Amino acid sequence: MNAERLYIDRYERAWLIITIALLAIFAIIIGVSAFGMGIQVPLPEQRVDPRTVASDPNSPWSNPGVREVVPGKKYDVYITARIWQFNPREIRVPVGAKVTFYVVSVDVQHGFKIQDTNVNAQIVPGHVTKMTVTFTKPGYYPFICTEYCGAAHAAMAGGITVYEP
Ligand code: CUA
Repeated sequence: MNAERLYIDRYERAWLIITIALLAIFAIIIGVSAFGMGIQVPLPEQRVDPRTVASDPNSPWSNPGVREVVPGKKYDVYITARIWQFNPREIRVPVGAKVTFYVVSVDVQHGFKIQDTNVNAQIVPGHVTKMTVTFTKPGYYPFICTEYCGAAHAAMAGGITVYEP
């Protein structure tokens, strides 16, 4: 006889509407920031084959180290990470220079964190991790592996000497 309607409590209805409205607002915010403003999750700088990246003579990581791009101003540093060492372990750059690190792993996942900077990244096999930092104070900046990578993980470290030219 009586056509029953689904009964929803007043407050429950209100919260359902608020929840759906919030989801819609979040979707709009993400859509506008991703496609309207171009804010995207960082992608790997480049992909490489971890089995050959350190041996292929055409790969810059076959000869890792510091490259002077603009003397005293701009440097590129190519680093390989493997269990359980970075190559090179010791790096020297002049104070005030803009230094871009390109780090690859040849085996498992490692980490790369430079003390007293905002550099702290995962080194995923197959991906090139790129980080740029300007060292404004001379000194010694140790770097360490921050992803557990086996028995001697804790020994996987090196350092950057920032010198007064
Ligand atoms: Cu490499 Cu931990």
